[in-house]
Amino acid sequence: MITVENGVYHLKTKHYSYLFRINDQNVPEHLHFGAPLLTSDADALACKPGLGWGTAVLLEEGNTKSCLNAIPLEWSGSGRGDFRETPVELCDAATDFRFESSRIVTGSVPMRSGLPQARNGLHTLELVLAQGDVKLRLYYTTFETVLVRRAVLENSSAHPLAFSKLMSFCVDLPGSYEMTSFHGTWSAEMRLHRQKVTGGKVVNETTMGSSSNNHHPGFFLSEPGATEQNGNVYGFNLIYSANHYASVQQSYQGLTRVMQGINPANFRKTLAPGEAFETPEAVLCWSGEGFGGMSGHFHDFVNRHIVPEAWQFRDRPVLYNDWEGCMFDFNQARLLDLAKRAKRLGCELFVLDDGWFGDRNHDKAGLGDYNVNKKKLPGGMDGLANKITELGMQFGLWFEPEAVNPDSELFRAHPDWALTDEFEPLYCRHELLLDLTKPEVRDYIVENVSRVLDSAKISYVKWDMNRPTVAVGTKVHDYILGLYEVLRRIFEPRPEILLEGCSSGGNRFDLGMLCFSPQIWCSDDTDPIERLTIQENLSYLYPQSTFGAHVSAAPHAQTLRNTPLTTRGNVSFFGCLGYELDLKHLLSVEETEIKAQVAFYKEHRRIFQYGTFRRLSDGEKTVWQVSDGQTHITGLFHKLVHAAPGYERLRVVGLDKNRVYHVVSREQSLRIGLFGELIKHVAPVSLSPHGVVLRTVDHRMTMPDGGEDFTASGSALNTGVMLKPLFGGGGYTTDQRTQGDFGSNVYLIKEVPLHEGTEHKK
Ligand code: DGJ
Repeated sequence: MITVENGVYHLKTKHYSYLFRINDQNVPEHLHFGAPLLTSDADALACKPGLGWGTAVLLEEGNTKSCLNAIPLEWSGSGRGDFRETPVELCDAATDFRFESSRIVTGSVPMRSGLPQARNGLHTLELVLAQGDVKLRLYYTTFETVLVRRAVLENSSAHPLAFSKLMSFCVDLPGSYEMTSFHGTWSAEMRLHRQKVTGGKVVNETTMGSSSNNHHPGFFLSEPGATEQNGNVYGFNLIYSANHYASVQQSYQGLTRVMQGINPANFRKTLAPGEAFETPEAVLCWSGEGFGGMSGHFHDFVNRHIVPEAWQFRDRPVLYNDWEGCMFDFNQARLLDLAKRAKRLGCELFVLDDGWFGDRNHDKAGLGDYNVNKKKLPGGMDGLANKITELGMQFGLWFEPEAVNPDSELFRAHPDWALTDEFEPLYCRHELLLDLTKPEVRDYIVENVSRVLDSAKISYVKWDMNRPTVAVGTKVHDYILGLYEVLRRIFEPRPEILLEGCSSGGNRFDLGMLCFSPQIWCSDDTDPIERLTIQENLSYLYPQSTFGAHVSAAPHAQTLRNTPLTTRGNVSFFGCLGYELDLKHLLSVEETEIKAQVAFYKEHRRIFQYGTFRRLSDGEKTVWQVSDGQTHITGLFHKLVHAAPGYERLRVVGLDKNRVYHVVSREQSLRIGLFGELIKHVAPVSLSPHGVVLRTVDHRMTMPDGGEDFTASGSALNTGVMLKPLFGGGGYTTDQRTQGDFGSNVYLIKEVPLHEGTEHKK
């Protein structure tokens, strides 16, 4: 509901209230974003400047309430006494936008710029501010758990209007906060950083052309002391995939200004008379229940209002991707062999990654060409797709349509289609980007990708993009609008195709891409221990249904870390499970384990993909829980173990304290090879730890590991129940968890039907 009474605007849902008022200077003054409250609270919430502060610049002489620098605002400008950062910069004028009018509509107001938009808002407030003939329309759309804001600058004057900055929103939140943001690089995405916000401005921005793995657009402001379950936390994110910018700064008076939008670096636009410019939508979220509550709000919003309708709450298939197993080295026979093996393991979708077209036998050639490589695939794409679908699997294909190799038919025919400038071209992964601001380039991509998609039974597309944008000057925003147009033209007529976004892993994991691709490849780093960090930190902003999470080979290609196959599976369960390794070399014990993993995942797929996700990690170990109300699954992951380990408890939250639950661990077994030469202490005969006998046994047989199977009340589980001990050096028994480094378990916790269990009433 959105109401306006005596100049007080109240945007209210079940979860939050957002209040501001138009003050006597016609300036929108922020009052509150947080717990639901009353419109009549406006006066109590408003700042009281009293006699004001010395040297204050006043909009109205003698009126300390008109000191723009000292009151919380919904928007601001420059050169008029507010010396904090401005959300808008006109090139040739100060900015002083004042309230002109407003309207409230049911639902969302469609965007006009081709930017992606959150679907099915509840209500929208359009607040019109004006500075002469220049209008600024601020849009506020309510969703149950979040508020979405954007701005539109309109030139109604008779002259061109140049501007160099327009944020999606700006707001001043009273209070002191810590800022949490995520930074990283290729294969090490989403490293969490937390810092106190003070008088020095904190900026989170990227100029890489994509939302980027260097500086993720989503961030939080939390009250000091906020935890996973308690405390006020604000979350912010942008529905955008290119250069973003956010700044946070606390004023002396204790107001924290926060704004987010398109990065003003290298950004300049001129609006002809009658033209308008629209910013991307920004998502603002508040929770009084800590980071966990805030993540729950974001997950709900993404699942309901961001991912394409055709894939909303739809099961994601278990896929096999040939990339890490084959790279460029494949032919039809090898692919079909892999597909048969993947099918036997239970995979539902076979994805052919890079290398299927042109002269793409390595990453130096072929990008831009769409002719199927007949040497590798003599039956064409259709032939391969038919054979895969005959096996009972769906078929999916990789594309990198935004890029071109200089060694390609496309580049030889249209060198001017590549993004270059007056300097020497700068290559990255031996490629240049195509200039998506050119209509003929967009047409080429749409026609060719569509042609391939219609030429065979293709149910899935992986859309890759492997380099930062350079040589694009001030056109980064136009480039991304070009990309959105291309995606819309290809995939809107083909809603049944599951699109997975990818950009050298998670270089473009953002709400903009999620409006087109229901899932995104989190990272090229599939080492499960690295993934604990990457997936846990993505979970602050995005639901598990959006995570591409694959099991790959060990030792791992990025870390050389050797991890148990059980842990690789257990980590990937908490996302959209896939396998990406050479199945030909699987040992029989590994095949057995993978079959069991896939079967377990399929049985609990809804909970893994759509259940309520909780982070219960404690610094020492990572703990994740997913729940659908009746069934709860907890993953407990160790990194390096210690000698003489202490007790360890399993804590399950969100249970009915009066009910009884059955706890059972997913059955896991131990590789005999784990023990190396220690086996001599138990073997009846002397065996070489490197000899053929032990190797053969290791490849064929496993030993059961200490599983759990017990019942306990919700109350006990919420307190924490004791697990079997970890291996402590005394020998092997099934009464302990004999795992070593990087061990993990997954526990299934189910309500015992009332007639079987005891209900504990107070
Ligand atoms: C980068 C992606 O992140 C990988 O998964 C793979 O698709 C390669 N590109 C293929 O070139």
